[in-house]
Amino acid sequence: MYSQALNTPTVLADNSPEAVRFQARIDAEERIEPNDPMPESYRRTLVRQISQHAHSEIVGMLPEGNWITRAPTLRRKAALLAKVQDEGGHGLYLYAAAETLGVAREELIDQLLTGRAKYSSIFNYPTLSWADIGAIGWLVDGAAIMNQIPLCRCSYGPYARAMIRICKEESFHQRQGFEIMTVLARGADEQRAMAQDALNRWWWPSLMMFGPPDAQSQHSDASMRWKIKRFTNDSLRQKFVDATVPQGHYLGLTFPDPALRFDESTGHWEFGAIDWDEFKRVLAGDGPCNRERLAARQRAHEEGAWVREAALAYAAKQRSAKRREAA
Ligand SMILES: [Fe+2]
Ligand SMILES: [Fe+2]
Repeated sequence: MYSQALNTPTVLADNSPEAVRFQARIDAEERIEPNDPMPESYRRTLVRQISQHAHSEIVGMLPEGNWITRAPTLRRKAALLAKVQDEGGHGLYLYAAAETLGVAREELIDQLLTGRAKYSSIFNYPTLSWADIGAIGWLVDGAAIMNQIPLCRCSYGPYARAMIRICKEESFHQRQGFEIMTVLARGADEQRAMAQDALNRWWWPSLMMFGPPDAQSQHSDASMRWKIKRFTNDSLRQKFVDATVPQGHYLGLTFPDPALRFDESTGHWEFGAIDWDEFKRVLAGDGPCNRERLAARQRAHEEGAWVREAALAYAAKQRSAKRREAA
C-alpha cells in the first residue's frame, strides 16, 4: 500500500569477481547506493538490520507514550511529546531506507505485527514512574547514540544519511532525560528515591542493548568487513559504561552492580556479569511487556487503516485531476 517503485539492486554471487570489486569499493570507503550491484548477503543483512532498527523506533514510542498524559508539567509534556514524535520519524526514515533495498514496507510491518521480526528487547520493560522517562532518555537514548554514531559512516548510503539526522535528535533525547534525572536527584527524598529506582531497573537492560558478547555475536564478522558495523558490541558497551558511570555519580546515584570499579591500569570501568538468559528470554518474546507492546502496535495499525485508505483515495484524486489538466 505504501510501496514506492522498488529498486531491485543487481545481486552478486558471493564469490564472483564483481563481489570482489564490491569489497574493494567498501575498503576504499565508497558509499554503496540503492541501484549499485551488491552481494545478496549484504542486502539481506541490511534489510534485517535496518528493519529491526525501524521496528525498535516505533515500538520504543510505547513505553514513553504511556507518560505523555501524566507528565508533571506542561513543558515536560511538550518535550516528551516532541521526543516520542521524533521516534516515529526515525521509524519512517528507516523504513524508507530499507525500501531502497527492494523490500516493501508493508512486508516489514507485517513481520513486526505477526511477531516474526525482532526489535530492541529494552522496550519490553514497563515504565513504572516518571523517573523512568528520565532514565530512558539518559540511558536508552544514550546507548542508542553510542550504537548509532558509527552508523553515520555505514557503507550503505541511505542508512548512513538517515542516521545523521537521527543522531542529532537522539542527542536532544539524551539531554532531556539527563535533565529530568538531575532535577529528581536534586529534589526531595522521594524524588531521589524514584531516580535511584529507575536507574536500578534500567541499567542492566541498557547494557544488553549493545547485543550479545562478541564471542557469541552471529552477525559481527561480515558486518565489520562490509563496514556496516565499525565497532564490536563489547567495545561499544564499554564506551557506554565509561561515559555513563561518571554521569550517574555526578547525580549522586549508585549503580546496581557491586562489581563496578574503575581500573586505573586500563582507564576503564569494569562491570559485573550481564544476565544473558534474561536477554534471550525477553528477545524470544517472554519479557514483562512483549505481549502488550505487540497488541498495542496491532491495535494502532487497525485503527489507522482509515488514514491509509484516505491518503490513497486523496492521491488517486490528485492523479486523476492532473490527468484531466494534461488532457
Ligand atoms: Fe530514535
Ligand atoms: Fe530517541
